[in-house]
Amino acid sequence: MILEKTQLIEITDNLSASDNVKKLEFAADIINKGGTVCFPTETVYGLGANALNAAAVKNIFEAKGRPQDNPLIIHLDCIDNAEKYCFAEQNQYLEKIKPLFPGPITAIMKKRDNIPGIVTAGLPNVGVRVPLDPVAHMFLSLCKVPVAAPSANLSGKPSPTCAQHVINDLNGKVDAIICSGNSSVGLESTIINLVSEPPMLLRPGGITYEKLCSLLGKVSISDAVLSEMKPDDVASAPGMKYKHYAPKSPVFLVIGNLEEFKNFLIEKNFFEKFAVLAFAEDIQNLNLNNIFNIGSYTNPEEVARNIFSCLRATDEICGIEKVYVHITDDKTGLNLAIFNRLLKASSYHIIDLRG
Ligand code: TXA
Ligand code: MG
Repeated sequence: MILEKTQLIEITDNLSASDNVKKLEFAADIINKGGTVCFPTETVYGLGANALNAAAVKNIFEAKGRPQDNPLIIHLDCIDNAEKYCFAEQNQYLEKIKPLFPGPITAIMKKRDNIPGIVTAGLPNVGVRVPLDPVAHMFLSLCKVPVAAPSANLSGKPSPTCAQHVINDLNGKVDAIICSGNSSVGLESTIINLVSEPPMLLRPGGITYEKLCSLLGKVSISDAVLSEMKPDDVASAPGMKYKHYAPKSPVFLVIGNLEEFKNFLIEKNFFEKFAVLAFAEDIQNLNLNNIFNIGSYTNPEEVARNIFSCLRATDEICGIEKVYVHITDDKTGLNLAIFNRLLKASSYHIIDLRG
């Protein structure tokens, strides 16, 4: 840290009010001086430092407790600035997906020498993201340098979708936290590797696989999206081998209709203390303690926004041994990203009740 204690920087609704601008200038100044600043984005909150300053970037890994072989992505205020840090213009695929920027997407391209090896964990490619969130956009424009940022959680925990999550994890470990509203997407960005042939989806997110196919034609899906990586697998998606999104109690995904799910929980209720994440339509019917509403079956956007905070909320209940999450087997659209995060959160533990 370059400051003695973490500064909490509250941004109010009217972003262009001079008070807010001054606060974001102060935050950008911390970045330019080599400090660390957490900032809101529409996906999740990020923990940023000047990507061109290797010493500053090292502080990100320390604050999060993140293994140094897991690369960071860089954040820019405009995709047209990507050319300064990677070979963007010669990438035939970037042109095709440019309409998706700014937005919940990260493009992996061949990096230039000005991006230090610590950012990419020694890889020749770098991930570039341009957030749509207006606070993120103003902050990044004021920084005038690319901002390396992973999600602003302690390594392994669910990503933060509100300022309080960031405060819980990183207060005292970073120089500042920009506190704004809840993340509107609620899941980290879609990561597409534009260097591989055809482009490869490394992490599903707010920009769907179907959308990418419509712009790029053929898109492959990394094995890491739906299956567990073995320690000796070639890491096309380096982050995927680590534990992710895990609350304190072990998570189990349960697949089956409401009746099957209800009977399962009634039985478990005799001998286990657990929390349940269930769909809005079923909450009343399940009639249990420690039940969290993830949103409607028909509204994956709502589920995406809620899922990380529901996982975190289970940590607040004393004495629970397990978390059961009701899931469907729909993997289309945004559901692929939700399923991917829940798979990682549960370390691939699925209980299939379907008869
Ligand atoms: O929405 C997001 O992407 C958020 C916000 C803050 O922008 N950031 C984020 O960063 O989720 P992080 O570090 O938590 O996740 C980035 C993922 C990691 O799994 C990392 O391994 C992978 O991207 N990654 C980064 N650079 C890569 C590269 N050059 N090649 C392959 N994967 C890469
Ligand atoms: Mg992360």
